[in-house]
Amino acid sequence: MTVRPIIAPSILASDFARLGEECRAIEAAGADWVHIDVMDGHFVPNITIGPDVVKALKPHAAIPFDVHLMIAPADPYIEAFAKAGADLISVHPEAGPHLSRTLQLIRSLGCKAGVVFNPSTSPAAIESIMDQVDLILVMSVNPGFGGQKFMHSQLAKIRKLREMIDATGRDIHLEVDGGVTPETAPLCIEAGATALVAGTAVFKGGPEAYAANIAALRGE
Ligand code: DX5
Ligand code: ZN
Repeated sequence: MTVRPIIAPSILASDFARLGEECRAIEAAGADWVHIDVMDGHFVPNITIGPDVVKALKPHAAIPFDVHLMIAPADPYIEAFAKAGADLISVHPEAGPHLSRTLQLIRSLGCKAGVVFNPSTSPAAIESIMDQVDLILVMSVNPGFGGQKFMHSQLAKIRKLREMIDATGRDIHLEVDGGVTPETAPLCIEAGATALVAGTAVFKGGPEAYAANIAALRGE
C-alpha cells in the first residue's frame, strides 16, 4: 500500500521576520499541517516560540497547527497553546511526572494529544495508555535544533510503534521529526510513518521552491 504522507513543515527553518507570509506560502505549496517547535531553553538548549506567536499566526493558515512542546513543565502552558489555535499538541514523557494526565488535559481542551519520543525514549512509555494517544512523534535527531543529521537507529522504533498502533485498530498518526529529506523520507514511510516533519528540506531555496520541496518529500 502506498501512503500519501502528511507533510508538516517546521517553521523553525522559516524566516522569523516573515512568519505569517511563510505560513501562507507553505499552505499554498501543499503543506498539510504547520509544525511549530516550542522550546524553553531548559528542556532543550534553545528558545523559540510562545503562545502569543501561535495566536498571531493562526489567521494566516487554515491547515492544522501541529504544536511540538519541548518545554518542562508543559502542563501550565497547554491551555494557552490550545486557546492560541493549536489543533494537535505533543509532549515529551520526560517533561512531567503524569503523562496520562497531560494527555487528558490536551484532549479536554479539544485538541489531539501527541507523545514525542526522544532518540533514547522507549516505546514502553506509552504501551499502557495507547487509548489516550492520537499522535506519536518519533524524533530522528536530538531535539533543540533544525538542520541535524537523520539517525537511522530510530527506524526500528518507528517499526515497533507501527506494530503497536496497528494492534489498537485505531487511526493514530505516526510522525517523524528531524533530518527528514527526500532521501530519508521513504525510509520513514517504509517503516510505517504517516506524517513527516521537515524544516530545512522544505524552506531551502525560498518560497518559489516550497511546492517542489514538499512534492519531493512525498516522492512525487
Ligand atoms: C527539532 C525540531 C524539528 C526541526 C526539524 O527539535 O523538533 O522539528 O525543526 O528540522 P530539520 O527538518 O531541519 O531537521
Ligand atoms: Zn518538532
